[in-house]
Amino acid sequence: MLNARRFASLPKVALATLSLLMAPAPAALAQLGARSAEEWVRMLDSKNRVMKLRVDDAVAALKLAPGSVVADIGAGSGVFTLPLAKAVGTAGRVYAVDIEQGLVDHILKKAQEEKVPNVVGVLGKFTDPALPARNVDVAFIYDVLHHIEDRVGYLKSLATYLKPTGRIVVIDFHPELGPHKNDPSLQVTKTQSETWMASLGFKPVAEHPLYDDKWYVEYARP
Ligand SMILES: C[S@@+](CC[C@H](N)C(=O)[O-])C[C@H]1O[C@@H](n2cnc3c(N)ncnc32)[C@H](O)[C@@H]1O
Repeated sequence: MLNARRFASLPKVALATLSLLMAPAPAALAQLGARSAEEWVRMLDSKNRVMKLRVDDAVAALKLAPGSVVADIGAGSGVFTLPLAKAVGTAGRVYAVDIEQGLVDHILKKAQEEKVPNVVGVLGKFTDPALPARNVDVAFIYDVLHHIEDRVGYLKSLATYLKPTGRIVVIDFHPELGPHKNDPSLQVTKTQSETWMASLGFKPVAEHPLYDDKWYVEYARP
C-alpha cells in the first residue's frame, strides 16, 4: 500500500508517472446538446415543430421503393419513423436507431399502438449505429448530425451498413437560421457534410428545397 509518508518520499520521476497514471481518462464521446428521453419527446412532438417538418413531403422526396430498408438515425420520438415504415410497406423495414433506450422504447410502443409491424428498434452507439444487418437502402439523418460529436467517424461507420447502391440522406439546419445559431459546436453546414461524404466516396445525387431553414441532400456512391 502507498501511504502518505511513502508517497511523499517517492522520487520526482515516479511521482510524475504516478500522477499520469491517476489522471482521469480522456472524456468519452458524448451526445452534443443531450436531453432526457422525456424532454426529447416533449420537444420533438411539439405541434409547432411537427407542423414545420413537412413530414409527408420529406418522406415522399425519397421515392422509397416498396420493400426498402431504411435506417432512421437518431429517430427521436419517431416523427419520421412511422411514415417511413408505411412508405416501404410490410415487405420493407425501418431501423429506428437512437442512443437513448427510452426513445427506442417509445417508438416501438407507438408502432405497436398504430399497428405498424415493420419497425425494428436499435440502440445505437455514439460512433456506430450498431445495426443488426448491412442491408440498408437509405440512411435518413434528420436534425441529428449536429448532435454527433465525431461526425465523420459516424458517417464512416454508417456507410459500412449500406448496400452498394445505398443512399445517405442528411437534413440539417443552415447554421445562421437554426436553433443553435449562437453555438458553433452544434452546427453542421452543407459544405462540411459534402466534404465528409466525399472523403467516404459519396457524392450529392439529389437536393430537395423543402425548407427555408434547413438543407436536405441525398448522397450516394458514384
Ligand atoms: C433533434 S433530435 C431529432 C429526432 C428526429 N430525427 C426528428 O427529427 O424528429 C436528435 C436525436 O438524435 C439522437 N442522437 C444524438 N446522437 C446520436 C447518435 N450518435 N446516434 C444516434 N442517435 C443520436 C438523440 O437522442 C435525439 O433523439
